[in-house]
Amino acid sequence: MSLSYEELVSLKDEFQKKHPFSPEIGIVLGSGLDSIVDQIEIEEIIPYQEIPGMPVSTNKMHKGQFVLGTLDGVKVMVMQGRLHLYEGYEAKEVVTPHILMKLLGVKGVILTNACGAVNLSYHPGEFMLIEDHICFEVESPLKGPNMDMLTTRFPDMSDIYSKEITNCIEKEAKKESLPVHKGVFMQFVGPQFETKAEIKMARTLGADAVGMSTAIEALMLSAMGVKTVALSVLTNMACGILEEKLSDEDVIRISKQSKEPFEKLLRIALKELKQHC
Ligand code: HPA
Repeated sequence: MSLSYEELVSLKDEFQKKHPFSPEIGIVLGSGLDSIVDQIEIEEIIPYQEIPGMPVSTNKMHKGQFVLGTLDGVKVMVMQGRLHLYEGYEAKEVVTPHILMKLLGVKGVILTNACGAVNLSYHPGEFMLIEDHICFEVESPLKGPNMDMLTTRFPDMSDIYSKEITNCIEKEAKKESLPVHKGVFMQFVGPQFETKAEIKMARTLGADAVGMSTAIEALMLSAMGVKTVALSVLTNMACGILEEKLSDEDVIRISKQSKEPFEKLLRIALKELKQHC
């Protein structure tokens, strides 16, 4: 069940009472991408199930907890594990933690994910900064009665992923010789990987990468006026490009192999986002 605005505010009030921490930037860590947590000066770890009203992550690859602390001098609220539509949640439930972050005062969010490369010039192990997305097949978290205190009824979506900050991240990443692309992400519901025909369709529509999260989170954050950037790790070529079958083990393996350059990219993104917030 998704929460009303009043319920979300009382969730925030309860959270603040128990954890008096004022986060500046939110970070959402995707599958196998949570090694950065070891670099954080941690103040507190709060499993989602300890927060009344908060949906709980059911994915074995996702820890399902908030990490509050400081990274490179910035107060961060990290989601170590996110919620997905394929777990059975409604889009509104998936973005409950993002709304909580906004209500707690977060000004900018870095979304991260593992995804499949659709663009034939991309390679596994490389990164993509999301510059735009396609998620027309996916339920909007804005569906239903509008939460007027959070968003307008018909929010503009022309700069969901801050172009200015994304360009700065790209420039800094290139200086560090990180293999970074900039492209269009398409969200599918999952949990099955896409078919060959769906990947052909995604490419025809203009997608460079596909995954099972992120776009609806970004659209909610953008609608709430939170500056958002998104970093994807291309863990595999999408279905039908290579002979091999796709597996979640391979996704996690490549995510984990990208640990060092990914941490570098994330820290660049944090610095740039903080500077612009
Ligand atoms: N498709 C969808 N989600 C993914 C993929 C993919 O190929 N790789 C990692 N997450």
